[in-house]
Amino acid sequence: MTPSTQSLWSTHDPRPTNPLDADLDADVAIIGAGITGLTAALKLAEAGKTVVVLEARMIGSGVTGGTSAHVTEAVDARYKDLSKHFGVDGARLVAQSSRAALEHIASRVAALDIACDLQRVSGYLYTEDASKRDELVAEHAAATEAGLNVELDALVGVPFAIAGSIRFADQLRFLPLDYVRGLAGALAERGVRVHEQTRVTKIEEGEAVVLTTEGGWTVRARSVFCATHTPLNLVRIHTKLSHEQSYVMAFAAPAGVEDALLWDTADPYHYTRLAVVDGKQWLIVGGEDHATGEEEHPASAFERLGAYAREKYGVTDEGYRWSAQVVSSVDGLPFIGRNGGSKNVYIATGFGGNGLTFGTISALLVSDLVLGIDNPWTALYHTTRLKLSALGDIVKAQAHVPAHLLGHTDVKLPSEIAIGQGAVLKQDGKHLAVYRDAEGTLHGVSARCTHAGCMVAFNDAERSWDCPCHGSRFATDGSILEGPAVVQLECHHVRDE
Ligand code: FES
Repeated sequence: MTPSTQSLWSTHDPRPTNPLDADLDADVAIIGAGITGLTAALKLAEAGKTVVVLEARMIGSGVTGGTSAHVTEAVDARYKDLSKHFGVDGARLVAQSSRAALEHIASRVAALDIACDLQRVSGYLYTEDASKRDELVAEHAAATEAGLNVELDALVGVPFAIAGSIRFADQLRFLPLDYVRGLAGALAERGVRVHEQTRVTKIEEGEAVVLTTEGGWTVRARSVFCATHTPLNLVRIHTKLSHEQSYVMAFAAPAGVEDALLWDTADPYHYTRLAVVDGKQWLIVGGEDHATGEEEHPASAFERLGAYAREKYGVTDEGYRWSAQVVSSVDGLPFIGRNGGSKNVYIATGFGGNGLTFGTISALLVSDLVLGIDNPWTALYHTTRLKLSALGDIVKAQAHVPAHLLGHTDVKLPSEIAIGQGAVLKQDGKHLAVYRDAEGTLHGVSARCTHAGCMVAFNDAERSWDCPCHGSRFATDGSILEGPAVVQLECHHVRDE
């Protein structure tokens, strides 16, 4: 069968949308209707706040809909590194906040009766490389010290040999879009408006925070939570972030694979789980991450991932393939809380590959901050923290930016662009990002990202223009797929000469 390029979770028809069509006032405005925004909206509405949620596209259409939905305490930043950078107490807080997020999700599913196939399963960090077993031994010790329920060298239910493992007990897997739609249903019952197709283009702070939307309507709020995965249009925070595109494929599930969350220690690494969607069981394999906008042929990541899945699990029947962007912080932990220099604007970003866990932590923490409730995680995740040990990583994360600000071309003439491909060229003194569609028609947009002016690069896996500097992504017609950019790429006529 021809694989779908939508995520496995996007198979259900979305409901009609409800774009903002008037100016509004609210206690709290939340930008982004993924797991972070909707979890926070429900907490704040339950606390008596008037809340409005503004979503640029559809509920869950961002990274919540692109994740492979491992909900886990086994965060990407290893506990041995967390203990080193944040102390044992910091590592314990990471473990505690992660467990709180898992239990919050489980309790919401139970209380709201959300049909999202939530299962408690084991998670395994494993290695096939005997030389890496010592790393797992050290990680097991650090995770134990942080208070996690872990077991060294537990048996892993996979059809190939492994050299070592850590079992994390009682992790979660579920269907992420069904979960967030359940949250949206609970919000609707409380009269909280979630306005889809409503892109925020400006955030202005004064007595109140005023949000301007693409449609020209404004929302005035006492507090604003930018729950957009990568904060809109801010530049300072992006110097402490890196962006990677991660690839996911779903195959008809073979027999003999444990219903668990699986993570290997390879570089680039792989993550695997089972899921049942519409009565069919799927094996979901992900990985082959690369820096956004830096890979010449992103489509080759799918070839490598498919080869891995076939070799390890013997799968043949591919149903879905998609990708999502992973935003990581330079010191391994996300930035969650009041935005630096802001009084009433809150942000949450840098979740790494643990978006559902950290998204939920963000919602719980920011809700407390808005409500004036002390939260023990505040200092750990503070947005302005700067670890001296991370300074080198900040410099490294930004080292590529100046080169991408310089103009360059991939080809001289449009005739060099094949069907279905894109390239940057210069016409009439302008750098244009040009895509040739299946009919041979050229589509030109400005090649300068509207966030801070870097040159975009063509992504042949997604047919998109990706910015290597801070991860903005645009469709071939210039419309925004992912921020921090809030303005689309300007369209330009291209002469097919
Ligand atoms: Fe910052 Fe493109 S995302 S310049």
